[in-house]
Amino acid sequence: MKNDIFLGGLALVAALLVIAFPVQAQEEVSYKADIHPILHDYCLSCHQPGGKGYEASGLDMTTYQSLMKGTKFGSVIKPGDSFTSVLIQLVEGRAHASIKMPLGMEGGLSKKNINLLKKWVDQGAKEN
Ligand code: HEC
Repeated sequence: MKNDIFLGGLALVAALLVIAFPVQAQEEVSYKADIHPILHDYCLSCHQPGGKGYEASGLDMTTYQSLMKGTKFGSVIKPGDSFTSVLIQLVEGRAHASIKMPLGMEGGLSKKNINLLKKWVDQGAKEN
């Protein structure tokens, strides 16, 4: 009888661990708290009306809506798929070194910021 309770307790602990860990790993990236500040600090100087990134490509990152609209050729973010999203390809320098974003910035974005951007896109690029 005592043993049953003990085993039941163990099973409960195991179940809680299984539930708790994936949830933690899946912590949601926020557009407002995480993504907009990165775009603001590293991209907006060129990617808003009047900036040279905007003039060359049409990509305006002032708002979530203008970011999702993309360039004059179409979207640069494919929700759920960071690998094929042009914006991610460019910050990772996967397209061409000459158009690695932010343009002209030595070393590019930090690994931490790139990972936040990727995770946000993979989680659906939500306006959260
Ligand atoms: C110093 C100015 C500058 C900064 C800062 C900058 N960009 Fe750009 N960006 C450009 C220019 C210029 C182009 C047009 C490049 C071209 O088509 O030759 C461009 C184009 C782009 C494009 C569209 C490429 C296409 O498919 O036409 C994306 C996506 C992009 N930038 C993302 C970013 C991101 C993300 C950041 C910040 C992490 C950033 N840029 C920061 C200048 C800048």
